[in-house]
Amino acid sequence: MAIERDARLREAQSWGDFHRFVIDAPAVGREARPGQFVMVRVSDGTAPLLRRPLGIHDADGNGFELFFKVAGRGTEILSQKKVGDRLDVLGPLGRGFTIPAPAEGTAVWLVGGGRGIAPLFFLARRLAEAKARPVVFYGGRTSADIPIRGRFERAGIELICSTDDGSFGFAGLVTALVSRELDKSRPAIVYACGPDPMMKALAAITARHGVPAEFSLESVMGCGIGACWGCVHRIRGAGGDDWVKICEEGPVFPGERILWP
Ligand SMILES: Cc1cc2nc3c(=O)[nH]c(=O)nc-3n(C[C@H](O)[C@H](O)[C@H](O)COP(=O)(O)OP(=O)(O)OC[C@H]3O[C@@H](n4cnc5c(N)ncnc54)[C@H](O)[C@@H]3O)c2cc1C
Ligand code: FES
Repeated sequence: MAIERDARLREAQSWGDFHRFVIDAPAVGREARPGQFVMVRVSDGTAPLLRRPLGIHDADGNGFELFFKVAGRGTEILSQKKVGDRLDVLGPLGRGFTIPAPAEGTAVWLVGGGRGIAPLFFLARRLAEAKARPVVFYGGRTSADIPIRGRFERAGIELICSTDDGSFGFAGLVTALVSRELDKSRPAIVYACGPDPMMKALAAITARHGVPAEFSLESVMGCGIGACWGCVHRIRGAGGDDWVKICEEGPVFPGERILWP
């Protein structure tokens, strides 16, 4: 884990409320693993005081990328940063997704809803590098909610899209799409990130099909490093159910350990 107070915004791209940032921050980029996150300080002043958690969308030796949707004041301020602006980031944090070993030839499915697609690009790239066979299911309410589908295609990663209103790809929920595909074939593992109702439904579907799954949970986070207890979630452990800090023990958990609200 590193604090990079002099990280720089190298490239920025926007689609309405969605933004992709490429950030020069070598210490974070070098260490990052898929599913980990960073805490970003969005303002030099006191409002908002707390850093905001954002998943690592991609990373290499030069730095890392973010893909985020404006949700409130903090992400709004972040979205207004300009190329060349300084950023203060803490990371990489948390425990990410498990890459199967051996990965070669293994069919793996990645399911992202809306901004939940963010960590799955990095994961898909790493899985492809490990010679697994990733298929990405990318769902949104409308075609405007799935703006980075071209990135997966350009990276040569198989992609199946869905929209609730049928404006692009499969018409319906991404969970219905995955459920339909699970009736035809079976991956070694399903990875997911998205809104809680999507992940809860997907947990039930994968459990019914007997397919292992990992889910990246979200919570409001005060510190990101285990100090504030602001991010607890009820998790099933060997010694019984317990409240655990998502920022330290997660954000990624196996489906069978999560007690959905
Ligand atoms: C580990 C982790 C990784 C994340 N990765 C991404 C990402 O890659 N891209 C992305 O767009 N977002 C991501 N988020 C969500 C992001 O952190 C929140 O949208 C952001 O903190 C909101 O801050 P804000 O100041 O803009 O909004 P605020 O004004 O703080 O809140 C606006 C609204 O969003 C709700 N909210 C705030 N934080 C969260 C949260 N963590 N989960 C759910 N609802 C929240 C608030 O209750 C409120 O209703 C991630 C969250 C976590 C915990
Ligand atoms: S965010 Fe502070 S303990 Fe997890």
